Amino acid sequence: MNRLTLTAGTACTLIGPPGSGKSTFAAQWPDTWRVSLDLYRKLAADTATDQSATPVALQIQALLLDARLARGLTAIVDSTNLRAPARAGLLARAAHWQRPTVAVLFDAPLATVQAQNVGRDRVVPAHVVREFHSLLPTVDQLHDEGWDTVHLASALGARPNSPNVR
Ligand code: UTP
Ligand code: MG
Repeated sequence: MNRLTLTAGTACTLIGPPGSGKSTFAAQWPDTWRVSLDLYRKLAADTATDQSATPVALQIQALLLDARLARGLTAIVDSTNLRAPARAGLLARAAHWQRPTVAVLFDAPLATVQAQNVGRDRVVPAHVVREFHSLLPTVDQLHDEGWDTVHLASALGARPNSPNVR
């Protein structure tokens, strides 16, 4: 994979259904760059899938995103980010700190995502993957929302060579 160049202080948001490769992609950069709802749910509840821990995970994500952007450090938001209000919240934080925004859209076909999902330890129910996949925005939608730069993950090349995925 040709690693994407991220200017220091960028708010880089990954957008894609479960199993689409977001965390695999994020693993190209230092761990400290990544803010992840799954990780914070796990830290709060011992399991990344406990949705009752989503509110506290959102608070932690917001705190760390602000802390990094305030310092001019890049943040990679590794969550599904498939709902426009969630993306608007991230754009607002980047605008507050006057930081550039990059969206990476994980646009693999549903069949590919389903296959990747069943091939890993943490399998998300197929109907959930399908529902989330149906929420994928278009590149034009993302530009209209105000993202400075939009990349298609499919155009960034093959999967990175890193086993360091959670
Ligand atoms: P990820 O675990 O990276 O997906 O990849 P994700 O988008 O972060 O999923 P959620 O939202 O946390 O649930 C899922 C599986 O797909 C493989 C990874 O190795 C992993 O097993 N994968 C990822 C590929 O086979 N090819 C890719 O290009 C990317
Ligand atoms: Mg992940």
